[in-house]
Amino acid sequence: MDSIVVRGNGPLSGQIPIAGAKNACLALMPATLLSDEPLTLTNAPRLSDIRTMTELLASLGAEVTALQDGKVLATSCHGEINPVADYDIVRKMRASNLVLGPLLARLGHAVVSLPGGCAIGARPMDIHVDALSALGAEIELKDGYLHAEAKGGLKGAVHELRFASVGATENFLMAASLAKGTSVLKNAAREPEIVDLAKCLRAMGAQIEGDGTSEIVIEGVDRLHGATHPVVADRIELGTYMLAPAICGGEVECLGGRIDLIESFCEKLDAAGVSVEQTHTGVKVSRKNGRIRAVDVVTEPFPGFPTDLQAQMMALLCTAEGTSVLEEKIFENRFMHAPELMRMGANIEVHGGHATVHGVEKLKGAPVMATDLRASVSLILAGLAAEGETVVSRVYHLDRGYERVEEKLKGVGAHIERVKAS
Ligand code: UD1
Repeated sequence: MDSIVVRGNGPLSGQIPIAGAKNACLALMPATLLSDEPLTLTNAPRLSDIRTMTELLASLGAEVTALQDGKVLATSCHGEINPVADYDIVRKMRASNLVLGPLLARLGHAVVSLPGGCAIGARPMDIHVDALSALGAEIELKDGYLHAEAKGGLKGAVHELRFASVGATENFLMAASLAKGTSVLKNAAREPEIVDLAKCLRAMGAQIEGDGTSEIVIEGVDRLHGATHPVVADRIELGTYMLAPAICGGEVECLGGRIDLIESFCEKLDAAGVSVEQTHTGVKVSRKNGRIRAVDVVTEPFPGFPTDLQAQMMALLCTAEGTSVLEEKIFENRFMHAPELMRMGANIEVHGGHATVHGVEKLKGAPVMATDLRASVSLILAGLAAEGETVVSRVYHLDRGYERVEEKLKGVGAHIERVKAS
């Protein structure tokens, strides 16, 4: 397995291009199952999770061709469709569950394995099941697979999610787009990736209003047609790279970044002593004078602080002046990076959903292990702030969600190398 070697760094300077959002693209790709005409996605990120979704869609009978070095995905689904999403592929990635809604809508039945993905909590499927059942599907769990059937097709309905789940909102949006009649989803997730999916579905002929708010209204249509859609910028990749100059000093512009996608995160950076500015071309970040200040962080659904930036923010706060408390409200087991950061000299106490970070002057390089996608990049960021060398192993997690991470960080002067497994 590859590892990444990082050496403590001085100030960074230059530009980092931000890719299309992994989480948006993973919801957009299954939308191809809704139509027999081609769906083309531009600004796609080049990641192993995207390849996993490509493999899953191919197993269902869709075609996904990566063009322009993977930046454009030409998809279509005009032939026979296999309704079974197999465990062997689904276990690699939780977002595989996003084929459930589209398969049900197009075929009236689907058999989808329960997903795997990052080991950051139990991550059940009950909210998806309730949402699709509201549209008239009968869903049963048998031998690790969800067997879903909508005899006579899906029917529009009013449904309130018990929690604003991103994936369940996406499944509902796609299914309701082809259901008979009007659907209203209450307590819907408001993440920018939902807005991006709704935009794409509208381009395919769907009638959707209210995306980006907690009540979405969908008027079902008989069929959807082809479209070309640009994937929104990745706000999590953006936030991650914004932390590099915050940690090392210097000034970096994240090209294509949009502050409006991560306002709550930017507010915390400002409070910590990092200056953030929207430019015509992206987001410019530099560290204000002096040491980073401690700040408290609570992760919440959008527009709150994103759980997917909690680990990276912790890496920054490890060397802040004072004590920060991070509260994780989305996933119950998302502090696995804390013990690894402690191997580097961080002073962190974890109690249930809270982590208390007592800032230390300096971190020290150490061998550490990536436990999930965002944890792995937090260790790289911490390595940039540490004295000496940090070796991050198990970086396959990283490749699921960050394209060319070493190249992007090297481009602004970071000392980072990938060591290929022999
Ligand atoms: C998506 C993102 C992920 C991000 C998360 C929260 C993708 C591909 N992934 O994941 O990076 O961390 O949103 O912003 O877009 N839950 C249930 N039952 C369900 C569904 C969810 O209890 O049926 C719980 C989960 O265990 C978790 C919480 O709800 O504790 C949030 O999950 P959800 O919003 O559904 O996240 P994902 O869509 O899986």
